Amino acid sequence: MKATNGNRVRRLGFGVMLGFGAVAVLGVAQASNAAQGKVIFDAQCAACHSVKPGVNGIGPSLYGVYGKPAAHVAGFAFSAALKNSHLVWNKVTLSKFLANPQAVVPGTKMPYLGLPSASKRAEVIAYLKNPEAK
Ligand code: HEC
Repeated sequence: MKATNGNRVRRLGFGVMLGFGAVAVLGVAQASNAAQGKVIFDAQCAACHSVKPGVNGIGPSLYGVYGKPAAHVAGFAFSAALKNSHLVWNKVTLSKFLANPQAVVPGTKMPYLGLPSASKRAEVIAYLKNPEAK
C-alpha cells in the first residue's frame, strides 16, 4: 500500500516536472522571438521609434504600446487618421498595420512601406510586448 502510494507520488512528481519543463521551454522560445524582434526593430523601426517611455522621435515612443488604443502617447502629434482609427494594438491589429500601414490606416503619417514577412512581424510584436526580454 505504502509502496504503491510512493510510486504514485513519484509519478506525479515526474509529471509536474515535465510540466515545468514545458513552460520553461515555452518561455525561452518567446524570449528568443523577442530577441529576433529586437534585431528587426533596430534595423527597421529604431530610426523613428524608441521603446523607452516618453521618448518620441519622428514616430511616437512605442513603450507599452501593446494592448493600448492607437495614438494614446502624450506629447506626440498623431495624424487625424490614426487618432480616428479606433484601433487597439494587439497581435492582430499590429500585424495588419505593420504589413501595410497605409492600407490599414489610410492617411497615417508613418512613412513605412511595410514588413511583408508574417513571422518577422510576429517577432517584432513579441519584442514590442516585452522589450526587456533577452
Ligand atoms: C520613417 C519613420 C518610421 C519608421 C521607419 C517606422 N515608423 Fe512607426 N510610426 C511613425 C510615425 C510618424 C507614426 C505616427 C503615425 C500617425 O500619427 O499616423 C508611427 C506610428 C506607429 C505605431 C502606432 C503608435 C500608436 O501609439 O498608436 C506603431 C505601433 C508603429 N509606428 C510601429 C512601428 C514599427 C514596429 C516599425 C518597424 C517595423 C515602425 N513603426 C517603423 C514613423 C515610423
